[in-house]
Amino acid sequence: GGDFNQKIDYVFKVVLIGDSAVGKSQLLARFARNEFSLESKATIGVEFQTKTLLIDHKTVKAQIWDTAGQERYRAVTSAYYRGAVGAMLVYDMTKRQSFDHMARWLEELRGHADKNIVIMLIGNKCDLGTLRAVPTEDAQEFAERENLYFMETSALEATNVESAFLTILTEIY
Ligand code: GTP
Ligand code: MG
Repeated sequence: GGDFNQKIDYVFKVVLIGDSAVGKSQLLARFARNEFSLESKATIGVEFQTKTLLIDHKTVKAQIWDTAGQERYRAVTSAYYRGAVGAMLVYDMTKRQSFDHMARWLEELRGHADKNIVIMLIGNKCDLGTLRAVPTEDAQEFAERENLYFMETSALEATNVESAFLTILTEIY
């Protein structure tokens, strides 16, 4: 559900990271506002959106942070990760390179974030299945090795988006 007049029991900060154009901003738009745009512009700096939900009879305000995948548009890294209790590591399943870069993003995340942060690997754009460049098994194997949750999503078709955010928020809780 959306926002309602009620006391907030918890505020959870979750950060989105991954290469440019993998769909971080559209995953957030889908989750927070149930919107999607094919003409999404590259993010510059940092943006965030909140969504309040009920988890186990508690009011949880999810504060989802979104930054630029492009190095030149990124803001101060340490501030971005500060206080984050969850992270989504997003790649585009039609772009092998965006998956190969996950190790680097994970390294940056682990270098800056709290050691107990809950991390989920996301293979986005599963609506483009015929163009798949990353087999599910490769991602699963990486996720298992690195102790990450894993899901394939489509921001366009709203596949698994709610489910991915709910899983991470429930695990944090
Ligand atoms: P940066 O802000 O530069 O880091 O990129 P980003 O990761 O935020 O990517 P963004 O959400 O702006 O999406 C990039 C492009 O991919 C846009 O044209 C989106 O419409 C498209 N896109 C995002 N998610 C999906 C999806 O699930 N399926 C398809 N087919 N396209 C998507
Ligand atoms: Mg963006």
